[in-house]
Amino acid sequence: MRVLGIETSCDETAASVVALDGVSAPEILSNVVLSQIEEHAAFGGVVPEIAARAHVEALDGIIEAALADSDASLDQVDAIAATAGPGLVGGLIVGLMTAKAIAAAADKPLIAINHLEGHALTARLTDGLDFPYLLLLVSGGHTQIVAVRGVGDYQRWATTIDDALGEAFDKTAKMLGLPYPGGPNVEKAAASGDASRFAFPRPMKGSAQPDFSFSGLKTAVRQAASAIAPLSDQDVADICASFQAAVADALGDRVARALARFRKEFPDKTNPALVVAGGVAANRTIKATLEALCFEAGFAFVAPPQKLCTDNAAMIAWAGIERLRAGMAGVNAADFAPRSRWPLDSVSAPLVGSGRRGAKA
Ligand code: KG4
Ligand code: ZN
Repeated sequence: MRVLGIETSCDETAASVVALDGVSAPEILSNVVLSQIEEHAAFGGVVPEIAARAHVEALDGIIEAALADSDASLDQVDAIAATAGPGLVGGLIVGLMTAKAIAAAADKPLIAINHLEGHALTARLTDGLDFPYLLLLVSGGHTQIVAVRGVGDYQRWATTIDDALGEAFDKTAKMLGLPYPGGPNVEKAAASGDASRFAFPRPMKGSAQPDFSFSGLKTAVRQAASAIAPLSDQDVADICASFQAAVADALGDRVARALARFRKEFPDKTNPALVVAGGVAANRTIKATLEALCFEAGFAFVAPPQKLCTDNAAMIAWAGIERLRAGMAGVNAADFAPRSRWPLDSVSAPLVGSGRRGAKA
């Protein structure tokens, strides 16, 4: 089984071919990702209109490159899987319409994929994980804890009530005059900082509500920075280190809660695992905190390679394969309209105002 995946929901234009022969482990035959960071850097964040146009310009070439790298022709592909939401609607339209055209021209089935499902199932592509497991998704657009129970069977246990975590990193960086994207630059500055200098709040820590919140922390950073302005390099480093410590602590509290809930809900699961995905999962302080928590709780800590944790099309192709083999590919994908908001878990209602792009979680 070979599936061509297409991803255009945010600021990466990506295409990939993934194969599964039913005997050996799945194989990523190609994985082409074009990041638009340079197009958006001057604006300090993703500009939807620029993103959509960049997808239009790049997508055909990226798909061609992915097919060429995989040594498979379109004829040898069994299906096309494309991200149909959630995300920026301009990019979604470009990717999904292109996929529809290719599927119609080549007479192949089209599978409309939820981007979050791509993240949720990646650990099965990379690590062959069995259901159920727990997923922590921390990126620029999402901050969620999801119980992954099966293909198409997800339960969201926590989401952010305001900013996504990556967004909090990016906004903090902007306030401190660090370049976009903020996360890696905050981490770099934090390395030479004193994490105990500022006692920033740990939002939601100890709260009975399982969700995340980061906007109060962001405000505390702003106040601390303006109180001691102008900032020296050391001040910036100390703020970054203190911010990162607060984030790791707050995140750890939320995740520990979810690990305990998982134990209670799946008492028979003998080898439970926590999977991390999303750009923020690259952060070493956060990773170390989560790893220690998992060790204490007897969970395996699974962090797929970074390029498969951030937005890519291999995870979309893989979700297509999972749906195909589960007989859940959907019959009418050609009629599927892009959905800027598309909760993975239709049971848990979206929280008002969650995330930079609205209540998509
Ligand atoms: O998953 P991702 O590449 O894409 C989208 O959200 O679309 O995540 C990007 C986010 C950005 O907010 C970026 O600042 C953050 O991940 N990030 C980090 C680090 N590397 C990337 N945050 C903290 N520490 C890092 N090392
Ligand atoms: Zn993503």
